[in-house]
Amino acid sequence: MGQEMPQRRPAVHKVRLEPVGVEMEVEEGETVLDAAFRQGVALPHGCKEGQCSACKCILNEGDVEMLKYSTFALSDPEKETGQVLLCRTLVYSDVEVELLNYDEDLLSRSIAVKAFNGKLASVEPLTHDIVRIAIDLDEPMKFWAGQFADLTLHGAEITRSYSMGNPPSEPDRLAFIIKRYPGGAFSTAIGETKIGDPITVKGPYGSCFRREQRDGPMILVGSGSGMAPLLSILLDQAASGETRPVRFFYGARTTQDLFALDVFADLEARMPDFKFIPALSHVEADSEWNGETGFIHDVLRRHLLDMENIEEADAYSCGPPPMIDAALPILQMADIDPARMYFDKFTQATQA
Ligand code: FES
Repeated sequence: MGQEMPQRRPAVHKVRLEPVGVEMEVEEGETVLDAAFRQGVALPHGCKEGQCSACKCILNEGDVEMLKYSTFALSDPEKETGQVLLCRTLVYSDVEVELLNYDEDLLSRSIAVKAFNGKLASVEPLTHDIVRIAIDLDEPMKFWAGQFADLTLHGAEITRSYSMGNPPSEPDRLAFIIKRYPGGAFSTAIGETKIGDPITVKGPYGSCFRREQRDGPMILVGSGSGMAPLLSILLDQAASGETRPVRFFYGARTTQDLFALDVFADLEARMPDFKFIPALSHVEADSEWNGETGFIHDVLRRHLLDMENIEEADAYSCGPPPMIDAALPILQMADIDPARMYFDKFTQATQA
């Protein structure tokens, strides 16, 4: 019998997060963000793959290496001045970083990321290219409204991130809204998945979740499958009994791309001050549409002019990066505090 070789344990380094003074351990070979997920330390993040810049911070000291990332998330001048993306950072010594985007609320509401065994429970078409799927979990997953999870389809071995579209009060049956793209690997594979087939759900992720007990209006801005996290936030807000005004601006191409209108009509009747404001960018010649038209950021601009107490607002934007990049300056020009503007950019490789 041969002798067993001792396994080399990965080196572990300390990472100190300023200005909050939190310290955590990171193993060599794992990113700082993955270590934070493992230990239940909530750091600001979005895409988890170097594309969105939500995890950008300043390296105060230490020896690090960055995995591949997009220069849209971290430009060369930013890198030269010592900024790093925590989702791409490997550490080779003890390290100190200065967080740029964080709030006390985020750090106090950490939930450790875990993998759950799930089974496909239902698939329901919502439009010609959007489906809603439900997944039953073997144990409840605690999450905040607006967060997302990684779904892995077995057999196809494909993993993609999608936001929960149900409120946190339903933690063992999760709903996801999935846009089908021609040739899209995940949406094709989900079409071939049968009811009862296993799906691994890992989460929760995301810092664009509902902040509670705030004054001022709540502004929701989305398009496409960005509906899911905003619907979760809205349903959670409705259940909270809080009475702040809520406005949901939703951009679609045509009437064929709108869905869940009955849910919004019901919420408008039940909530003290809620309005759903859909806008179409393309109105068919024979359409009877008499609602808003144009791009959603233009509609947002017009409505924000008349809103009271807007400087006290919280704004949540979810959807494709160009929509969010157009909406954020408008929210800022309306005097909303940038620290109260939460967003989740759905990149093609993550949420589709
Ligand atoms: S760039 Fe790090 S989470 Fe998106």
